[in-house]
Amino acid sequence: MRGGRISWAAGLLAAQLTAAYTLDLGSTESIKSVARSMSEDMMSFYTGNQPGGTPGLLPSQYYWWEAGALMGALVDYWYYTGDTRWNGVAEEGLLFQVGPNNDYMPPNQTMTEGNDDQGFWGMTVMSAAEYNFQNPPRDKPQWLALAQAVFNTQAARWEDQRCGGGLRWQIFTWNNGFNYKNSISQACFFNIAARLARYTGNDSYAEWAERTWDWMVDSELMSMKTYYIYDGIHVENCSEITPYQWTYNAGAFLLGAAAMYNYSTNATRREIWHERVDGLLNGSRVFFTGDKQDIMTEVACEPVDLCDIDQQSFKAYLSRWMAATVKWAPWAYDRVKPLLESSAIAATSACTGGTNGRMCGLKWTDHGKWDGSTGVGQQMAAMEVVLANMIQDTSSPVTDDSGGTSVGDPGAGGSDIGRTGIEFPPVSSAAKAGAYVDPILGLDSFLEGLRAFNSHRLLDFYASRLASCGATHYSITLGSWVLMTNEVENIKAILGTSMEDWPIAGPRLLATLPVLGPDSIFTSNGQAWHKARAMLRPSFVRDQVADLKCFDRHIRNLLAAIPADNTTFDIQNLLLDMTMDSSTDFLLGYSTNSLTEPSPEAQQFVKDFEYASRESAKKARLGPILYHLPHRELRKAVRGLREYVRFYLEKAAAQNEKGEAKERSYVFLDEILKANPPVDYTVDQILSILVAGRDTTAAALTAAFYFLARDAVAVDKLRSEILAMGEEYPTWEQLKQLKYLHNVIKEALRLFSPVSTNSRRSNKETVLPRGGGNDGKQPILVPEGTPVRWSTHAFHRSREIYGLDADEFRPERWENLRVGWEYIPFSGGPRICLGQQFALTQIAYTLFRFFRTFQAIDSRDPGPFLARTNLTISFPYGCLVSVRRA
Ligand code: HEM
Ligand SMILES: *[C@@H]1O[C@H](CO)[C@@H](O)[C@H](O)[C@H]1NC(C)=O
Ligand SMILES: *[C@@H]1O[C@H](CO)[C@@H](O)[C@H](O)[C@H]1NC(C)=O
Ligand SMILES: *[C@@H]1O[C@H](CO)[C@@H](O)[C@H](O)[C@H]1NC(C)=O
Ligand SMILES: *[C@@H]1O[C@H](CO)[C@@H](O)[C@H](O)[C@H]1NC(C)=O
Ligand SMILES: *[C@@H]1O[C@H](CO)[C@@H](O)[C@H](O)[C@H]1NC(C)=O
Ligand SMILES: *[C@@H]1O[C@H](CO)[C@@H](O)[C@H](O)[C@H]1NC(C)=O
Repeated sequence: MRGGRISWAAGLLAAQLTAAYTLDLGSTESIKSVARSMSEDMMSFYTGNQPGGTPGLLPSQYYWWEAGALMGALVDYWYYTGDTRWNGVAEEGLLFQVGPNNDYMPPNQTMTEGNDDQGFWGMTVMSAAEYNFQNPPRDKPQWLALAQAVFNTQAARWEDQRCGGGLRWQIFTWNNGFNYKNSISQACFFNIAARLARYTGNDSYAEWAERTWDWMVDSELMSMKTYYIYDGIHVENCSEITPYQWTYNAGAFLLGAAAMYNYSTNATRREIWHERVDGLLNGSRVFFTGDKQDIMTEVACEPVDLCDIDQQSFKAYLSRWMAATVKWAPWAYDRVKPLLESSAIAATSACTGGTNGRMCGLKWTDHGKWDGSTGVGQQMAAMEVVLANMIQDTSSPVTDDSGGTSVGDPGAGGSDIGRTGIEFPPVSSAAKAGAYVDPILGLDSFLEGLRAFNSHRLLDFYASRLASCGATHYSITLGSWVLMTNEVENIKAILGTSMEDWPIAGPRLLATLPVLGPDSIFTSNGQAWHKARAMLRPSFVRDQVADLKCFDRHIRNLLAAIPADNTTFDIQNLLLDMTMDSSTDFLLGYSTNSLTEPSPEAQQFVKDFEYASRESAKKARLGPILYHLPHRELRKAVRGLREYVRFYLEKAAAQNEKGEAKERSYVFLDEILKANPPVDYTVDQILSILVAGRDTTAAALTAAFYFLARDAVAVDKLRSEILAMGEEYPTWEQLKQLKYLHNVIKEALRLFSPVSTNSRRSNKETVLPRGGGNDGKQPILVPEGTPVRWSTHAFHRSREIYGLDADEFRPERWENLRVGWEYIPFSGGPRICLGQQFALTQIAYTLFRFFRTFQAIDSRDPGPFLARTNLTISFPYGCLVSVRRA
């Protein structure tokens, strides 16, 4: 989880009540002394200067960009106080991370590097040049040249084709967020360009700054009325703005505008930038709250306690840049000073946390109360806002012509221009010792996968990769190494014998986490999972799932909704409706009745359910930064879902209490309520079962109809078996006897396995039985934190197991085929699908009733076999068929 350092420390006790600091803003000595302690606490998080640490890196829960921002705080600390204690650390970190082309694109980072990440390092070295920070040795890259390198690489990435201009967030096409143009990327670029113009006097930089400003206004990411700056836009729809406002955007544009004002000599231009500085100062008032509206607040996340680890540092930059603005736009002093004063006092008075009793929190508006959080961002923000109050005692930033000593290079960073490939992070040597590595490394492989995903051919892609790269190999997915494996022995270990080492984590977890929370059977591991599984299992014993009456009504509704007059219809949609109706009936005792007359509440519930599943899966694909952006619509949908479930939960509890008669003898909820669990916990579990059972069952049924609609011989055979039974409404035991029917279902689940791929992640260094050695058949060492993915689809189409006709629909093959872990539509091991019998019964009964009613089903879909790969798979364009009545 992000924000790992937030701890509700026991040390809240006494420290809380007594201020750790007395800050006298009238005394530079007082400010310096407070800042010194704060800098020490800030650097207590930094490990880059310790044995085994990497210079310029923070511990892994912090992203790389924040370390660049931290180096900037160290440069500032020296600039304000003259104290050189951190200068060596800052120089070392800034030089260690430059990368082979001296442009802040170090190979360890480029896999996930955004323009904003690079920009933060660029702004720090720009400050180093402006403040005449100690210059690196001659044979090392110089501050000014590094800032120019960052500028040049980014100018080359400017893109007019989408949304009329701007920089994309991500640098490389395969990264999540490549389709996003965010304000902070523009803000960093603008800030550096404006300051380079001022420093060098070269007007090319100013032109880029103006172009960036104009695009911000044209795209409406910046409002010319309010000067509010919004988070960003996706290139798919340039007018749909992600509306969050962040302090760092306001700050970066403010300082850049002040630099442009200072740089301009033409009176008209000066006037324009004067106005813009004023406008941004007005706009930034939105970040000042509290009784007097004068305390800096990260308004988008702080009041709701949702600031992630990045966002916890943003106020540092608004503080830093508001103060620096004064040097170039002196009239701003009277406007910013009162805000910096009250914010500094408020921030400092709340620094009473941690074991030393003086750690700073995120919130400054709690009247001197520490909010319980600590971190680099909190320390940095408090220190910067305190230092900012000394801005009038500092020297003026230099330029080339006025005392600047940093050596520039206008052509720096040129080697990046047009660069599209990157160095991939090395597979750790422990891993490489064993496994094959995808030979079509990196970009090509990745783009091929992306194309396959978009054209609904991802399943084939995985299968062909496994065939060509070896049954166990490393490949790049979403910017990190994933071990792909197609070895039965490995799956057996991951899901069975070594299950403890392989928890559910990563995308498999994130995709459902916003809806289900961390305690549900579908998202939890270890003890929490045991508990959930134990609570739910009794509800799936035979008596309960053998109750065909529960399905009957919904199957009737399905049959009634099917046009029997040979017209074309999409059976996938109807089956999705039916499985929603039957799942809610089974789980809550009340059906959504989507196939007949859904109530407005039920319609809303279905809508919320589909929206929430889709959006949380999308969120999981967005990558770590956007994943943590608040998503108001999603939160609303999830709230709606939970309320709906809770309503029936409470109804069932009340009925039990009064001993009222039930619609049916068995209701799933009764079984669960016996354990008397907390309401929210029960809601988590019920929603999990809905997520687990609804789309999967619909997909399996759709697949059966898809293949039968293309195989009249199988339909005849199946109908003969069903009619021979002589029953119109079979019992569960009678259904069980229909061999061919079950072979049809098995075969459909083989060829179109609803959960077509799955993954786990190692929680420690561990061993898998296959994939190592020269022949790939030896055990292989797997480092901690390695994601492993397998393709059930690929297993199910293996020619070694199923023969040369593995791709064909042939239910007869099951007449004498025995398979183990090679056939896992319901997974295996202790976490095997809990609803397997429930699903199979519903599928069998539906097919039975369908073929009692209809004589033939024909495909009306000439297209190729495609599968959309979401949490579960589906037919991307529906399953078009027509039927004839018997
Ligand atoms: C054909 C339909 C279905 C298929 C193919 C299917 C497949 C699966 C698979 C592959 C898993 C393992 C997921 C993982 O561990 O990552 C799973 C788990 C689960 N399934 Fe199903 N499922 C189906 C229907 C259902 C139904 C109808 C229900 C409930 C009514 C259900 C309830 C569950 C539950 C609760 C789990 C989690 C078990 C655990 O982690 O302990 N499933 N299912
Ligand atoms: C990149 O990662 C390797 C391996 O972890 C490490 O040794 C090296 O110092 C890192 N380089 C930078 C610039 O962070
Ligand atoms: C001014 O900056 C531009 C853009 O980086 C560069 O191409 C040009 O060479 C610079 N001119 C001078 C005189 O340094
Ligand atoms: C783009 O987003 C806007 C604002 O949300 C919406 O009104 C418009 O319909 C969207 N356009 C497309 C093509 O989706
Ligand atoms: C001053 O700047 C304005 C606005 O950019 C421009 O229209 C005008 O031509 C400039 N004047 C001179 C003398 O360069
Ligand atoms: C059903 O419709 C198809 C396509 O329109 C047509 O070719 C076929 O003859 C029809 N069958 C019957 C029995 O009406
Ligand atoms: C599945 O994924 C596609 C593409 O990402 C998306 O458009 C679609 O809405 C998703 N469907 C569901 C049911 O989540």
